Amino acid sequence: MAGIDEILTNNRRWVEAKNTEDPEFFHRLADGQKPRYLFIGCSDSRVPASGITGTGPGEMFVHRNIANMVVPADMNLLSVLQYAVEVLGVQDILVVGHYGCGGVAAAAANKQYGLIDNWLVNIRDVVRLHETELLRITDEKQRLRRLVELNVTEQVQNLAKTNIIQNAMRGDNPPRLHGLVYDIADGVLKDLGIDGREVVEELEHIYATQAPHEQDGDASSYEGPTEDPSEQAAG
Ligand code: CO
Repeated sequence: MAGIDEILTNNRRWVEAKNTEDPEFFHRLADGQKPRYLFIGCSDSRVPASGITGTGPGEMFVHRNIANMVVPADMNLLSVLQYAVEVLGVQDILVVGHYGCGGVAAAAANKQYGLIDNWLVNIRDVVRLHETELLRITDEKQRLRRLVELNVTEQVQNLAKTNIIQNAMRGDNPPRLHGLVYDIADGVLKDLGIDGREVVEELEHIYATQAPHEQDGDASSYEGPTEDPSEQAAG
């Protein structure tokens, strides 16, 4: 119990300060949220979403995991993304990596860490895609910093691969996608200057999908596989 005494004391102090500063603060938040941003960042304790962006309660919807990954088969990420985009209508989606990321460093090493190896494989895919560029960097620290940046770029691309973002981009209020890197050593957040719309357009010829109501013809006429499986040779 003693372990959280400090947390509870801090909380009461914070409530008091907020109420003094703005008596309507909590009433307003209780009415609902309309955050402008979705933050996708690393779970690292040194990269708190609100602290490094100067945003307060109600301003930023947050998803964090090891190494700020956008894994298109991650139900947690997809649920957060869909809710943020389709229900909350966030305007800016920030993928925020950070230099000195333990997850990225672990992925770059060929050591076994246990279950997490299966998560880190997604970063190893980034290494594979950019191996030529990474091998050209002789300084290991610089190579890891570059991998952190490339990982962010790839995760923004992964956003563009989801039907959630593709549909939102065709809507009235398309969200903007951003790739950022935070430097733990000096606290500065750097914009990688990624143009989200461009990313979506570049990937379109491979990853674009259309909702049934957007397709020509009647989607309900789909009758399943045309081949009869029973006619296929065994084995
Ligand atoms: Co990290």
